[in-house]
Amino acid sequence: MSVNGSSAPAAPGGRASSAVSRVLVVDDEENMRHLLLLMLRKEGYEVVAAADGEQALELLAAREFDFVLCDVRMPRLDGMALLAELHHPGHALTVIMMSAFGTLDLAIEAMKAGAYDYISKPFKSDEVVLTLRKAEERERLKRDNARLEVELVRTRGLENLVGTSTAMQAVHATIRKVAPHKATVLITGESGTGKELVARAIHDLSDRRRGPFVAVNCGAIPETLLESELFGHAKGAFTDAYRSKTGRFEEAHGGTLFLDEIGELPLSLQSKLLRALAEDEIRRVGDTRATPVDVRVLAATLRDLEADVASQRFREDLFYRLNVVPLALPPLRERHGDLPLLVHHILARSRERFGRNVRGVTREAMALLESQDWKGNVRELENLLERAMVLSEAEWLGPDELAIEPVAGAGPPEDGEDELSIKKLSRRLEDRLIRSALERTRGNRTHAARLLEISHRALLLKIKEYGIDL
Ligand SMILES: Nc1ncnc2c1ncn2[C@@H]1O[C@H](COP(=O)(O)OP(=O)(O)OP(=O)(O)O)[C@@H](O)[C@H]1O
Ligand SMILES: [Mg+2]
Repeated sequence: MSVNGSSAPAAPGGRASSAVSRVLVVDDEENMRHLLLLMLRKEGYEVVAAADGEQALELLAAREFDFVLCDVRMPRLDGMALLAELHHPGHALTVIMMSAFGTLDLAIEAMKAGAYDYISKPFKSDEVVLTLRKAEERERLKRDNARLEVELVRTRGLENLVGTSTAMQAVHATIRKVAPHKATVLITGESGTGKELVARAIHDLSDRRRGPFVAVNCGAIPETLLESELFGHAKGAFTDAYRSKTGRFEEAHGGTLFLDEIGELPLSLQSKLLRALAEDEIRRVGDTRATPVDVRVLAATLRDLEADVASQRFREDLFYRLNVVPLALPPLRERHGDLPLLVHHILARSRERFGRNVRGVTREAMALLESQDWKGNVRELENLLERAMVLSEAEWLGPDELAIEPVAGAGPPEDGEDELSIKKLSRRLEDRLIRSALERTRGNRTHAARLLEISHRALLLKIKEYGIDL
């Protein structure tokens, strides 16, 4: 039996060229096996035949196939039984049934049991090939989808966490690495650096993303209520407990519990949290039984927890439980390079929210933004831009719209004494502004002087004074 190599299709219908589909033909009639072997080989498939279900299983165990073309009625293991075997997890096979006269009902039954399609005997060769092509197309789409899903998952959550600075790239990398695991992450950073955003990103990138994301601000709930908030309570646990209540831990079952401001957790609850984390079970207030929970815990704080451990405000054992993976968010002032992207991102988002057609910020405004020290980090930037958007009609937001003044704190002070020296800091700022103006005008001093609103002569003097060489 010779195989007609020239008729082997390179990649019909966009089939991955590397993948010649492998077909396993299962039929007890020798003529039928022979016919299908010839027919499918001619179409370029790699085909192997088996005489019954048992033999098919042996072949399937030995190597991988893409499709099984299977008769319904066979001795030993029949088509239905084989199908049932193949639908065990681990087998991702596409099964096509072949039904002879009188077995159509069974073929339909087989489709309900997971077969992809059926062909009635007798069939024309076109019919078989067409059905296989269709199945191949479906497999290709399924693979593409799976790949896109992976791609989406890889970037989802992170596209909202803007930043191309080295520090933010490192944050992205850590998030990607820890997300798939159940490890506890302790997220630290100043106010407004995006701690909650990071927690959501970790959840979204984990296989718990379809489960709940529950956030509890430990600093915002009075100590007396916090235990019942976290762990729930049984009916009658205390005077006002008219009915039992599910705690946030249980609500987060199968998902992620984000404990914000964990540094504010009172000592009494620290030991209860530690027990919950260690044993994967919680105890409702007033309940003697424990309830098992499957929760991934992420915690955040702007406090220096290690210092709190040292001063015994925070339990050391709990600290180590939480700090399995530490993730420190950089303050905005240490990543000024991210400002243009952040401004762009925030404006794009707010444009929709406020229905305003703002295009961006002017270059002067950007330079001013870069000179701020951003104690409130990204949240402060957000507030500033949103306020400007609401208050002004301008397409391009300038220093006036943003209502910001040059801040003398441009750049870190060289030493503590300089911090308050108006003279030194304004000289530094002047130096920066002149350099920016010259850069922007590509060294045209007349033009630069105009931008700086000083005389040409004054500019020349200052260039000399600061030793600017452009
Ligand atoms: N890297 C970032 N990219 C885009 N937006 C960000 C980024 N970081 C923070 N934000 C935005 O800034 C705001 C503050 O972020 P978030 O609430 O996550 O900060 P936080 O660290 O939890 O602050 P706090 O300690 O005050 O609770 C949010 O609106 C968030 O969307
Ligand atoms: Mg927060």
